[in-house]
Amino acid sequence: MVFKELFALASVAASLSGSYAAITKHVPCPDGIHTATNTACCTWFTILDDLQANLFDNECGQEAREALRLTFHDAMGFSPETGGGGADGSIITFASTELTYAANDDGGVQDIVTNLTPFVSKYNVTPGDLVFFAGVVGLSNCPGAPTGLQFLTGRPLPVAAAPDGLVSLPTDSVSTILARFADVGFSADEVVALLASHSVAAADGISGTGHGAPFDSTAAVFDSQFFVETQLNETLPGAVRLPSDGLLARDNRTACTWQGFVTDEDGMRSAFAAALIKLSVVAQTTSDLTDCSEVIPGVQVDTAEPYFPGTLTITDVDQACTATPFPTLTQDAAVTSLAPV
Ligand code: HEM
Repeated sequence: MVFKELFALASVAASLSGSYAAITKHVPCPDGIHTATNTACCTWFTILDDLQANLFDNECGQEAREALRLTFHDAMGFSPETGGGGADGSIITFASTELTYAANDDGGVQDIVTNLTPFVSKYNVTPGDLVFFAGVVGLSNCPGAPTGLQFLTGRPLPVAAAPDGLVSLPTDSVSTILARFADVGFSADEVVALLASHSVAAADGISGTGHGAPFDSTAAVFDSQFFVETQLNETLPGAVRLPSDGLLARDNRTACTWQGFVTDEDGMRSAFAAALIKLSVVAQTTSDLTDCSEVIPGVQVDTAEPYFPGTLTITDVDQACTATPFPTLTQDAAVTSLAPV
């Protein structure tokens, strides 16, 4: 009896402490509309509205894709050997230097740097915070984007341009790419996870013929279709495939994870979210940062299954994973060529 009462009391105490833990105090923001767990987050609600209305048009379009890409080009600017501030926004502050580097020398990177730069002074935020906020907000506009994305604020100002040669090129070998990412602390599996970003990608950096050529047939949806189409022995008319993506899909260090994402879309989303969170704090002191993830908008769920486009079938797959056969997918006969996005 005594034991029973003690047990009952312990249960009540446990459930009370659980309830208190779940209640997080919110403070009203000066805009009179929002509340936040920390006043440092308030300004990001205003920046969110401005970015959505005036840069992204609430769409998973060119600017949203470019913003996501910029997170990579900023954060990789760090190496234990040569230095650099990682995810510090140096690509904005030291644009006159970093935009001359081969990896950044295209219209896509230049375009988004130009478009984001005025937001830094307009809202008195640091460029490192802005780069990652814009990246996750842009991504949140893409149906199928992962939940559980994180936005931390409080990165200090960048002190110097990142050294050249730290952002991987599409002409790099798999060994070169994996070594560069390993230098920053990413495993081969995390590299594959990060490349889920190419699910919402197009060649926006080139002008003229080929501009806007998508990387897969669902460029406005964050899904596994990119991992299917990069494994096929032909590229759909109108699509573009980076040499590096084609190689990573076929290398024995990465092929099974690549193939695994075809059917495990939820696993792909959570692996990508975790890797992007890691990318967002390269060379940053996370204990100094404030979690403002509550500002990230909700995402639209995508439940469509991956497919073989046009007349292509399992016989058109370049089987590269030796452990497991490529999954059998349905065919979407209507997808025979792709228009620019
Ligand atoms: C091996 C590493 C990578 C290489 C070699 C690479 C290379 C490229 C290239 C050449 C483009 C096309 C540029 C253009 O013509 O506009 C591109 C687009 C893109 N990349 Fe990557 N990338 C890599 C990793 C990443 C990572 C880690 C992310 C993000 C976390 C990312 C996000 C994107 C996005 C979103 C686009 C589409 C941009 C647009 O549509 O405007 N990439 N990438």
